[in-house]
Formats: sequence, C-alpha cells, structure tokens
Amino acid sequence: MDVSNYKPKGRIEHKHLLNLLDYSESDIFEILHLAQSLKAAQHKGKKHEFLKGKTLAMIFSKPSTRTRVSFEMGIRQLGGHSLFLPYNDIRLGHDETIHDTAHVLSRYGIDGVAIRTFKQSDVEDLAKHGSFSVINGLTDDFHPCQALADIMTVMERFGHLSGVKLAYFGDGNNVVNSLMLAGAKVGMKVVVCSPNGYAPNPEITAAAQKMGDVTVTDNVEEAATDADALYTDVFFSMGQARNPEKEKALAPYQVNSHVMSMAKQEAVFMHCLPAHRGEEVTDDVIDSPRSVVFEEAENRLHVQKAIMCLLMGKK
Ligand code: CP
Ligand code: NVA
Repeated sequence: MDVSNYKPKGRIEHKHLLNLLDYSESDIFEILHLAQSLKAAQHKGKKHEFLKGKTLAMIFSKPSTRTRVSFEMGIRQLGGHSLFLPYNDIRLGHDETIHDTAHVLSRYGIDGVAIRTFKQSDVEDLAKHGSFSVINGLTDDFHPCQALADIMTVMERFGHLSGVKLAYFGDGNNVVNSLMLAGAKVGMKVVVCSPNGYAPNPEITAAAQKMGDVTVTDNVEEAATDADALYTDVFFSMGQARNPEKEKALAPYQVNSHVMSMAKQEAVFMHCLPAHRGEEVTDDVIDSPRSVVFEEAENRLHVQKAIMCLLMGKK
C-alpha cells in the first residue's frame, strides 16, 4: 500500500518513539497523515490545541536549532508547555542516573520527554523507567524525527512514497540509519553510497534490508542514476573529532552539480541541516530550486506535533 491510499485511524499503539525499529508502515502513515493535517491547520491559522495543559520536558546534551525550536514551538501551538533542561543545568549524567531522573520526572506530571544525547541506551533506559512518553531527538545511532520529516517532504513533492529512489551520499551515520529504516518501511528504494570503512552500521542495515529495498554501494554513479532524491549529511557528526583521513575518504561523495546531473531531471536535493557548505554539498546545489532543505526543516515541526499528539494525547 502507498501512503496516498492509506485511511488514517488517528491513533498508534505506541508510547515512545525511540528508533523506528518497532514502528509499522501504518504507524508511519498515521504520523504523516496527521502531520499533513496539522500543517494545513497551521498554514490557515486554525487553532489546534490538542495537547492543552500537557508538558514536554526537553533534555539536550548536544546543540540544536531545528529540533529544539520545532519541539518548543510545536508543543506551544498544541496548547501545551515546554521545559528546556540543558545537560549542564541538570544532574543527569553528572551525579544522577537515568533511572533516578526518570523516576523523579515521573512524579512532577511530565507528559513527554524529547531527548537529544549520545548513547541510544540512555534514551531507552529513560523510556523504561519513566511514566512519560519518550521521543528521540537524536542519538549517535538514530534521528527518527528527522527521517519522518524527510519522508513527509518526499511525499509532498512526489505525491507518493512507494518506489521513490532516495540515494544518500557520505558518512554512514545516525541520519542515514533512520532514513534506511523509515524508507524501507514505507516502500521507498533507499541506496546508501559510502566509501569503504564509512558505511552505516551493519546490524541496522541488515534490519532495514529485511523490511524493504535498501542497498549499500561505494559507487556514486550507480547510486545517483535515476534517483528521485539525493541526500547528504555532514562528514563529522556532533561529538566526532575532525579527522583528515575520513575527510579524504568522503570528499568524492560530495553532492555537487555533476552528481545531480546523473539523477532524474526532477530529482530533489535533501539535507537534514546544518550543512557544511563546500564539504558534503556545494552552494550551487543547496541553493538551487531543486533543494528542499527548508521544506524538510519546516516539516520537523509538523511531524513532531503529530508524534506528540499520537503519543502524549492518550492520557
Ligand atoms: N536537523 C537537525 O536535527 O538540526 P538541529 O541539530 O539544529 O536540531
Ligand atoms: N549527523 C549529524 C546530524 C545533525 C542534525 C550529527 O549527529 O551531528
């Protein structure tokens, strides 16, 4: 089934969004349909206070523009409140365990926690020990909210998801891990193009390959040919030191006008942002009319509002 034929029910059977591994195709379609209707309401200036009185705490151990602002604005537009808890201002990770923090936050009436941190296991522990919904706002392994906003952008651009070829170029990181999972589940054709030594985690790749059409190659031409969407991300993710060897290996995987010319004529350029212009992408590509990077950034807001409604709106 394609997302365009799906009839939404307005609910999903999940409390958390941790890594997308346990989400079905219909769970993702529910999020995308609700995100589209929230986007339409937002653009028409229609009130949509579906989470009136709910509170989202935000634990962030890494910097952020999009994730932070879109969660804060999203919960506000839904009639709720946010509580920003930067890593340096709370005890978690310094002198208090995840387990104890989860129990304490549960006593204060917190409805949801959006967390951005290093270890995926910390996000999973928080979900295990707290009474609230946990939403992964990026770890070293996954970035599920980003992948959902990205496939929403593809759906808007092409009107469907099934069979759309998305080629990712560069470092096999958190962003591509989530893109492989999300893309595979919704019937897209995902091709990951990375140099030897920088391909995505083999276990996550194998899990995505079990669910759908995911291939890994080191050949740029093979990946770009007939692609509908070309995606890239930074060479060095947050928490990684720059390293000349990796830079040299990734340089030939830059998305530039030559790579774009191998794709379909109507192909779009995608990036989660922030971009390191001149490194993984050239200015002429990211600033071209084929670039949908700001649509992706906007869709973070709508997708996360849908996720919050579906997860936190139940109680
Ligand atoms: N794409 C993304 O997650 O951006 P931020 O790091 O600014 O939140
Ligand atoms: N891969 C990047 C994504 C930033 C949104 C990082 O983890 O830094």
